[in-house]
Amino acid sequence: MKNFIIHDNWKVIEDQYHPEWNEISESLMSLGNGRMGGRANFEEKFSGKTLQGNYVAGVYYPDKTRVGWWKNGYPEYFAKVLNGANWIGIDITIGEEELDLATCEVLDFHRELDMKEGHLVRRFTAKLPSGKIVEVNAQRFLSIVDSETGAIRYSVKAVNFSDKIVIKPYVDFDVMNKDTNYDEKFWDEVEKEVSNGEGFITAETRKTLFHVTSGMKFQLFVDGAKQEFSADLEERLKYISNITSVDVKEGQTVTIEKFGVNLSSEYTSKENLLAEAKQFLYKAFDKGFDQMLKEHIAAWAVKWETSDIVIEGDAAAQQGIRFNIFQLNQTYTGEDPRLNIGPKGFTGEKYGGSTYWDTEAYCLPFYLATAPEEISKNLLHYRHKHLARAIENAEKLGFTNGAALYPMVTMNGEECHNEWEITFEEIHRNGAIAYAIYEYIRYTNDHTYLAPYGFEVLLGISRFWAQRVNWSEYRKKYVMLGVTGPNEYENNVDNNYHTNRLAQWTLQYTKEVVDYMKEHYGEMYAELKEKWNFNEEEEVSKWSDIIDNMYFPYDEERKIFLQQDNFLNKAIIPTSEMGEENRPINQKWSWDRILRSCYIKQADTLQSLYLFEDDFDVETIERHFNFYEPITVHESSLSPCIHNILAAKIGNKEKAYEMYLRTARLDLDDYNNDTEDGLHITSMGGTWMGFVMGFGGFRARNNRLVLNPFLPEEWKGYSFKVNFRGAHLQVKTTHDHTIIENISDVACDLVVFDKEYTLEAKQTLEL
Ligand code: BGC
Repeated sequence: MKNFIIHDNWKVIEDQYHPEWNEISESLMSLGNGRMGGRANFEEKFSGKTLQGNYVAGVYYPDKTRVGWWKNGYPEYFAKVLNGANWIGIDITIGEEELDLATCEVLDFHRELDMKEGHLVRRFTAKLPSGKIVEVNAQRFLSIVDSETGAIRYSVKAVNFSDKIVIKPYVDFDVMNKDTNYDEKFWDEVEKEVSNGEGFITAETRKTLFHVTSGMKFQLFVDGAKQEFSADLEERLKYISNITSVDVKEGQTVTIEKFGVNLSSEYTSKENLLAEAKQFLYKAFDKGFDQMLKEHIAAWAVKWETSDIVIEGDAAAQQGIRFNIFQLNQTYTGEDPRLNIGPKGFTGEKYGGSTYWDTEAYCLPFYLATAPEEISKNLLHYRHKHLARAIENAEKLGFTNGAALYPMVTMNGEECHNEWEITFEEIHRNGAIAYAIYEYIRYTNDHTYLAPYGFEVLLGISRFWAQRVNWSEYRKKYVMLGVTGPNEYENNVDNNYHTNRLAQWTLQYTKEVVDYMKEHYGEMYAELKEKWNFNEEEEVSKWSDIIDNMYFPYDEERKIFLQQDNFLNKAIIPTSEMGEENRPINQKWSWDRILRSCYIKQADTLQSLYLFEDDFDVETIERHFNFYEPITVHESSLSPCIHNILAAKIGNKEKAYEMYLRTARLDLDDYNNDTEDGLHITSMGGTWMGFVMGFGGFRARNNRLVLNPFLPEEWKGYSFKVNFRGAHLQVKTTHDHTIIENISDVACDLVVFDKEYTLEAKQTLEL
């Protein structure tokens, strides 16, 4: 755990030069606007430790899978989010010396991410080997208003010298992914142009043939006065720059304002790409840095208005929750149903920027409660659009009749993960996708999603489950063999409780949806029956049989469902007895030892108890929690949040708080020693869930919002905001009271501390 980030309510601050942790800060202070993003790399050259990263949403490369022993059905490739053009670069030379912090004496250094306003600031004073001292101030943002563009204002002050300062802004497409499987570059140049003050490069991705145009336009100032310049133009393969030089006197400041554009062929035809990119860039340039920033800040204010959480009396916790909310809102803005949320968002390459079950299981609740309904709906549409591919994916494995297996990892609907235990066996993801449909409707009451979208997806998934189970003559039950549950520290197990339960639940829910469709969308239902060749009588009766006869491993003595068959054969030794030197086990132990141990990576059986909590009384949840949590190592970032919620539910407030802190500051404190690779974006949705569902007791049930707020001892108070069916509420809790304010014009039905209320528009409830 590192502790170099200054605690602040609205900012992430690094106030000293820590080159050894530069990659961590680059991740933490990443910027994004839904359409593009990038790490907090320096604009000027830096020969120290850095991971250069600029990413354009939806643009990926299918890097051929590398495995030792190919088996039938393996995915052909592992999709990579592409490191795109470095458009932020501005090389600086003072006289004959290059400005590179790795070769300077850094006299002071400050870098901060302003989460309220969505921009990155860096300032430093550096002494060059010659003794010349410069003061640099840099500010950068990616506009959430003009989302194809970003802007940089970069100033260099000549503190103790007069000399020529050479400023070289550039666009460099000659970049590589660090995680490339075959040391290959993924971009080929299509065209480029460079002229005084601007330049553009269009490049094409190998295999996927996406085109992206990245460009720049800039202007120069000395002590605030605009400068005419005549730049030397430089170009080589996949690279353009302008070399400009300014003679400065001691005490003078030279400033460059550089505007950047990134536009992909996902948003316009390849023929028009360059022309459109130019238009976007010129528009940004004409607006100017200050105006763009002003509009950007105003748009962030609107986002915070609906999603902010305030914690009083604990700056670390406050910074933690805002950091999570900020990063989620930077990553996914929800306008485009072709986009989704990668586990690392726009902050690193690992996990390929692809979509996992994380979105449905951990991110959807955040967007449902804090953003317009359309945004969550687009997350659902994303999977609907991939239905044909999910069917193909199942066919490749031998399933028939429209059975759909959604991929564990995907960019375009195809499976693109190359680990067998995950790709083939972690089929619980199919259940998460079905459950998301239910959750969306339960929250919004928007049943129109079922016809045809939700129904088609549920039908495909149910068909998969119906074929994936088999009748066991031995148990006289349906069983599901050879799966991996969410706990990836167990592979190829039989009867994973969570997977069996999700399968049974999906079949039940799809049956209900069939009835609903018949009643409310009769005509469309008839069409869909035909389209999907749905033999209702036969298929539904098979589903009913599975629902009634599904097998669940259970221990009578402990009265708990077991994670899988034979789980109790393991030596059950709580993590408290294993010694810190063994942690994290995924780095310290052999895989063989992990698989044989009782240790659980992340909520598995407890994931089901969380999803289906209404089926259990609190004592049952507590029994399961007290059995499983002590043997859980929480080595997935997705783990603490579910435990946070369940601990709160069973009244174990201390544990809830402990789990919350672990998730909220996971990246800020680099708990898992991997923040340098990028942030855990999807688990940030989990952090939000942990807070609002854990401490706030927030749920949507029976067309009402349920709240059971409690305040951890360590805090003075907190407040959070949620949307519910047009109403917008603020919930404030202190040690002696809870105030729920309806700040909207729409009435809202509530259950607070088990009592029903209707909160009229603008009304306040004080308890
Ligand atoms: C977790 C998975 C998750 C993936 C991406 C893994 O470590 O075990 O559940 O989907 O990370 O976040």
